[in-house]
Amino acid sequence: MDNFEIKGLIFDLDGVIADTAHLHYKAWCEIGQQWGFNLSISQNEELKGISRKDSIIKIANWAGRNLSEAELEDLAKKKNEKYLKFCENMGTGDILPGVYDFIITCGKKGFKLAVGSASKNAKIILQKLGIDDLFSIIVDGNMVEKSKPDPEVFLKGAEILNLKPNSCVVFEDSQSGIQAAINAGMFSVGVGQKHLESCNHMIENFNGFSPEKLISKLSNSFN
Ligand code: BG6
Ligand code: MG
Repeated sequence: MDNFEIKGLIFDLDGVIADTAHLHYKAWCEIGQQWGFNLSISQNEELKGISRKDSIIKIANWAGRNLSEAELEDLAKKKNEKYLKFCENMGTGDILPGVYDFIITCGKKGFKLAVGSASKNAKIILQKLGIDDLFSIIVDGNMVEKSKPDPEVFLKGAEILNLKPNSCVVFEDSQSGIQAAINAGMFSVGVGQKHLESCNHMIENFNGFSPEKLISKLSNSFN
């Protein structure tokens, strides 16, 4: 593929930059257990990337519960209190392998950098990790109406970076996030051990990954 030019990189937060996916899972498990419901690992995969409220609606459906708006709000608050408690002592050690170096290298090479996350805690978590100032813009769950796979969060990021969607790459650990990137008309790189469908390239983590490898893998994905 000729004439493709990558100018912007948009990183999901939970499970891509921050080692928080297991903490969201732990908090959701505790919420489900209140009803004697055990949230499975595969059900949890479906919760990755979607908003807190949409997650509660899914869990309630799986558990066969009908929740009023007030109960929903209350559970969202409880889940977040638990989650933030788990994150209390979080620091630079909770940055996932290789991603810090990758971000720094990409910044030096002139790529524009953004975060695109469903989490309303994104800024707090990035501050705890000490890397909130590495990004031109952090688009978080407070700035969007619709959950991934809707492309809103990534389109907003590209718009603020003043870039066209087709010059942006999204890094994601969730299937809903990969679908959001595709729906936005962006390239996507799946991150993690679980294979994600339809991304342009998949990496287990960022160790040894570089901007050069990124460009080469993306151009190969067209051939
Ligand atoms: C996503 C996570 O990034 O943010 C989900 O993958 C989480 O697990 C969602 O539920 C919302 O996060 P928060 O911090 O606003 O509850
Ligand atoms: Mg994620």
